[in-house]
Amino acid sequence: MTALTLSTAAAPGLRADAIVIGVGKGGKGPVLAPGADAVDKAYDGRLAGILETLGASGAEGEITKLPAPAGFKAPLVLAVGLGTEPEDDQAYDAEALRRAAGVAARALAGNKKAAFALPVADAADLGAIAEGALLGAYSFDAYKGIAPAAKKDAKGNGKGPLGEAALLGGKPRDKDHKAAVERALAVTEELNRARDLVNTPPNDLDPEAFAAVAQTAAKEHGIKVEVLDEKALEKGGYGGILGVGAGSAAGPRLVKLSYTHAKAAKHLAFVGKGITYDSGGISLKPAGHNETMKCDMSGAAAVFAAVVAAARLGLEVNVTGWLALAENMPSGSATRPGDVLRMYSGKTVEVLNTDAEGRLVLADALWAASAEKPDAIVDVATLTGAMVLALGSRTFGVMANDDAFRAAIVDAAEEVGEPSWPMPLPEHLRKGMDSPTADLANMGERMGGGLVAGLFLREFVGEGITWAHLDIAGPAFNESGPFGYTPKGGTGSAVRTLVRLAELTAAGDLG
Ligand code: BES
Ligand code: MN
Ligand code: ZN
Repeated sequence: MTALTLSTAAAPGLRADAIVIGVGKGGKGPVLAPGADAVDKAYDGRLAGILETLGASGAEGEITKLPAPAGFKAPLVLAVGLGTEPEDDQAYDAEALRRAAGVAARALAGNKKAAFALPVADAADLGAIAEGALLGAYSFDAYKGIAPAAKKDAKGNGKGPLGEAALLGGKPRDKDHKAAVERALAVTEELNRARDLVNTPPNDLDPEAFAAVAQTAAKEHGIKVEVLDEKALEKGGYGGILGVGAGSAAGPRLVKLSYTHAKAAKHLAFVGKGITYDSGGISLKPAGHNETMKCDMSGAAAVFAAVVAAARLGLEVNVTGWLALAENMPSGSATRPGDVLRMYSGKTVEVLNTDAEGRLVLADALWAASAEKPDAIVDVATLTGAMVLALGSRTFGVMANDDAFRAAIVDAAEEVGEPSWPMPLPEHLRKGMDSPTADLANMGERMGGGLVAGLFLREFVGEGITWAHLDIAGPAFNESGPFGYTPKGGTGSAVRTLVRLAELTAAGDLG
């Protein structure tokens, strides 16, 4: 894990492997961002011109490396593109800073220490830079042959993530600055842990193993935890979770994490889809569609991370996290297409396609969450390929039974730098799930499949409870190259949105 420090040292005297500065895209070429002045001075004010000569434009994500000026302790200056320079008197927006810090941290992998001299207009900017650096520095090499530490040279440099990010421009004694950094630390550590869970191969992370990780973390952070195993699920009548887990040698689990605050006025419930591997079951996925399906527990990982982050931040709100964990496998004991499951809510569901399993485990968890009558429920799931077709691989869809709540979630996501888009729940799609045998089927019309799934979930939300559904099938797992502060593989999608929702609820600004 990359260490984070605040430094007030002057640029020339900084002991680091590199100094990171920001460069924006101006009308007539690259323009230095605030924070770069001390470095520029050492180049006699010629730094913007030098960067232009080197081909820099200030475009987002661009990296330009140059030797540090004479007299500097650090050998390297790394200029990172911030994108279009803001209008007069405006500061760079937080997401531009977050991305630039992430790009720089990634480019500096293998180094011991980098100093970040990016523009800091306020505490929020400092927090964004901290987040970007810590998220961008993430790497997952638990399964690589040689432990990362062994790859370092005598100076401690080598492979593995950036060792330390020292932020300049912050005020270490300022209350708001300190809080922003503390928040960034808590959120990014838990988010990176969610990424680890997603990236862990499914032979090492089955429902039981995931539940054990949740139990350990909950104890560490004073969160109450209950785990229902197969026996308890059977006794309780959780037919959805049991039906999905029936084909696997690794039994399903339902984990309940309860974070409570003595002064809390509101109660939020987060529900996560936790399919530790989705083979499709008897409706087996073809090759080409199952290689990344270890990512199908990303919703549960996000919920887990958000509850722990809320606890670490001591937010004045009660947050219950529900992790619906199962492995979807074909076998002689697996649920068949045509089987009817009696769900925890009492409704019966005809399983027409065993690959539409996420909605089945979520249905039971949503009903369990509803029994506590929380002020709102938000579920998070890698639910449908249809949502990826609709919104692409970086944007999650937001559906809800309340338009204002849906809008508030899209706004909260935007605020933390997570792209999302409101999606409808068209009533006419409901009848496609009518079943001749059971109360409803787990499949409906193919067109609008993401919305059909949302309508299915809505059937299992308790009467009168505000509910939203985030379909993160696109952004949960990055199959292409890294960008900004997003690595390849597990991304930690929705963690920051959930934490923001908990914060807004604690502040009385939501619902
Ligand atoms: N886990 C998948 C959805 C998914 C697809 C997640 C791509 C991440 C990337 C889900 O369980 C699934 O298989 N959904 C089916 C539903 C269909 C059978 C109604 C789908 O989207 O094809
Ligand atoms: Mn599936
Ligand atoms: Zn799935």
